[in-house]
Amino acid sequence: MAEPMAVNPTQIGAHQRKHAPLAMGGSTFGPNQYTGDEDANLLGALEAAYERGITHFDTAEGYGGGHSERLIGRFIAASPSRRNRLFLASKANLDDLTPQSMLKAIEGSLARMQTDVIDLYYIHWPRTGKDMRPVMEGLEVARQQGKIRSVGVSNFSVEQMEQVGEVGRIDAHQLAYNLFWRVNERDVIPYCNAHYISIVTYASLAHGILAGRIPQQPDFPKGDQRNSILLFREDIWPQVYAANEAFKAIAAKADRPLAHLAIRWLLRRSGVSSVVVSARNAQQANANADALYGDIPDDVFAELTAVSDAVNPHIPFADTLYNYNP
Ligand SMILES: NC(=O)c1ccc[n+]([C@@H]2O[C@H](COP(=O)([O-])OP(=O)(O)OC[C@H]3O[C@@H](n4cnc5c(N)ncnc54)[C@H](OP(=O)(O)O)[C@@H]3O)[C@@H](O)[C@H]2O)c1
Repeated sequence: MAEPMAVNPTQIGAHQRKHAPLAMGGSTFGPNQYTGDEDANLLGALEAAYERGITHFDTAEGYGGGHSERLIGRFIAASPSRRNRLFLASKANLDDLTPQSMLKAIEGSLARMQTDVIDLYYIHWPRTGKDMRPVMEGLEVARQQGKIRSVGVSNFSVEQMEQVGEVGRIDAHQLAYNLFWRVNERDVIPYCNAHYISIVTYASLAHGILAGRIPQQPDFPKGDQRNSILLFREDIWPQVYAANEAFKAIAAKADRPLAHLAIRWLLRRSGVSSVVVSARNAQQANANADALYGDIPDDVFAELTAVSDAVNPHIPFADTLYNYNP
């Protein structure tokens, strides 16, 4: 008999079935993403995740210019009975803040993913100082039409959530959260908890840092997104690197990969429903699925939190991890 997962299944919005609280991320890093060469590997990652019960697939119309959604469409078309087990989440990052524009984006996502309903659709990014309510109205129309089941926001402040909350119901908030990046604990996460909004985390492995593979002197290729991520800024990185060495020591003592501890730490944080992690191939997808198995003693989490508490004051407050504030 297969070993049961050590974590509870989760449920987001109006979705009827519970699913594992880990999601497969649909975007990958690097200047060469989506050249086409990696399609077989990415499909292999989807397949491996699905076979391990990781049925929440997170994507966006913008990932690879729609290519990520198309890959999911290919994955479903290869065996249509898969669709019923999947929890499909996608997002649109709109410049034209109208209901029509959101409805058009949803139609595009439905077509690319070869499905007639999307389980969760997010407003990917807010627009600073702009009224996002018309976009929310578009999502509510799509919900009434049965084209989406639940509504999410991503990278929103409390004020922005309050604004769209006037015209619709937010079921989930996808936000950056990890052992190094806890700014959302200040007000966004308490707001979500108070309003029964499920929290879905991205940057869960801090862009690979918590997978333990970034060297002391990182040298990302030109065009790699990580060049603009705050944690790698030259005045901050030494503290992050030192803390990560301490995390690695805790992981070695616990005899678990650090990525497993990072995922499980998030799943114990208040309000967190799902942790999104991307994988480039079946091997990474399987390694991440393994995180959901086996007991991890409470004192391991206490040690992780202590190191995280000590390094976080060295990480400046900023609204986003990226130099991106549309
Ligand atoms: N809502 C938003 O605004 C937003 C923003 C960003 C991401 N996301 C979502 O979150 C997902 C995750 O992306 P992220 O940016 O947050 O990245 P992340 O999960 O913090 O880091 C992912 C990276 O970690 C490494 N990794 C993953 N599994 C590994 C394993 N088992 N062993 C070794 N290394 C492993 C891979 O690095 P290598 O590439 O070096 O192999 C991978 O690219 C995305 O796919 C997307 O779905 C959402």
